[in-house]
Amino acid sequence: MISIQDLAIAAIPMVLAITLHEASHGYVADKLGDPTARYRGRLTFNPIPHIDPVGTILVPALLFAFSGFIFGWAKPVPVDTRNFVNPRKDMAVVAAAGPLSNLLMAFCWLALAKVAAMFLGNSPIMEPIIRMAQIGLFFNIILMVLNLLPIPPLDGSRVLAWMVPTRVAYWLDRAEPYGFFILLGLLYVGLYETVIGPATKSNNRVLSGMRPTGRLHLGHYHGVLKNWVELQHSYECLFFAADWHALTTHYDNPWDIEQNTFDMVVDWLAAGVSPGSSSIFIQSRVPEHAELHLLLSMITPLGWLERVPTYKDQQEKLKEKDLATYGFLGYPLLQSADILVYRAGGVPVGEDQVAHVEITREVARRFNYIYGREPGFEDKAEAAIGKMGKRDAKSYRQHRKNYLEKGDAESLNVARALLAAQQNITMGDRERLFGYLEGSGKIILPEPQAMLTPASKMPGLDGQKMSKSYNNTIALRDDPDEVAKKL
Ligand code: TRP
Repeated sequence: MISIQDLAIAAIPMVLAITLHEASHGYVADKLGDPTARYRGRLTFNPIPHIDPVGTILVPALLFAFSGFIFGWAKPVPVDTRNFVNPRKDMAVVAAAGPLSNLLMAFCWLALAKVAAMFLGNSPIMEPIIRMAQIGLFFNIILMVLNLLPIPPLDGSRVLAWMVPTRVAYWLDRAEPYGFFILLGLLYVGLYETVIGPATKSNNRVLSGMRPTGRLHLGHYHGVLKNWVELQHSYECLFFAADWHALTTHYDNPWDIEQNTFDMVVDWLAAGVSPGSSSIFIQSRVPEHAELHLLLSMITPLGWLERVPTYKDQQEKLKEKDLATYGFLGYPLLQSADILVYRAGGVPVGEDQVAHVEITREVARRFNYIYGREPGFEDKAEAAIGKMGKRDAKSYRQHRKNYLEKGDAESLNVARALLAAQQNITMGDRERLFGYLEGSGKIILPEPQAMLTPASKMPGLDGQKMSKSYNNTIALRDDPDEVAKKL
């Protein structure tokens, strides 16, 4: 749910977006010879003169309280087109200034997020800043797209009025009193979902799994579940019981897996993971995980799997088990299939799983490289290399190879710089070579990002990390007497 903190954080970018939007209209109008807005005090960073008590406060607040949807308007900036040299054109420019200011603000929020991510690291003020930047980006894009709709009195209609014949512009003007109702009608039939929503969409699907180890303890709650419960309200979330992953280490004793899955999912539900806000399922009920795993196994070099740190670690740790199996080696690849089969963008995991997300990215890249190229692409790219001159061509080939085979990021940078500096190749060839460099044609399987769960500080009863194997847990379903006894 949206909390009070969220609202406080959201208020800053939202008020700024509205204020600068309106002030930009006024500023450009003034520059083009109409001082009306300036005389009325609308060329200001102070939000108050731009606020329409009904449209900016009452309507959005009521709508939001009752529907969770926000819609509203600010006080229109007065423009007297008689002051313009070229009224129709100048009015269009004044109108366009508003959405343009939102576009610029969207870029600024993006830049702020980047800078914050670079310099603030894990500091506690990082999260609210990123959140604010996200809201700023999102809100400005919505404001821009909405205002560019060609429905009077929206800015888009003023721009349109300049582009169409005078007769049509006249009718557009006449439609203004009904514009608000047209807009409401369009919103009602799904304008938001079809036009405005997609403008703000990125890959927002989040996926995570947990091996079924039975009833969960406080360590699971603070380390994972709390995070899932939060995420499910901001993203499309898929959470699943990784029962096939359990089988990679418990293949000789699979009898508990079913009951463990049941117990684990009951604890998810009790902790607040909600089937209304997220999709909850069992891996082995979706055979496509296994199918993609099979296909991925065809293209995955053995060395990649042998080099995953958890492979050797776990074999050492679980000495009593024979883990020199095909299935255990493939554990990270099965995990890759889990993620890629849904084209998930974010994977919330702990530190220990980052290597698995990393190999997922490599596998996706390789898959796209092998299966994502259009016919003839390679020949065209090779021909383009030929146009570069012997030395550069050789250098390009070498760096490309280093990057594609070993993931050497430095080589990628060098080769990109090399391409950027080429004088003798066409735009088309340059683009081809950029694509060829990364081995990409079409992106069939998008690369996911690990969303690092802040390390849980939950110690067990003996002060070590809480874990079943240390016998130091407090289970979520321990009864009060038992908890008291343990403490
Ligand atoms: N390997 C994960 C763990 O041990 C569980 C898991 C399996 C997973 N498939 C996944 C996690 C896909 C995230 C995404 O906890």
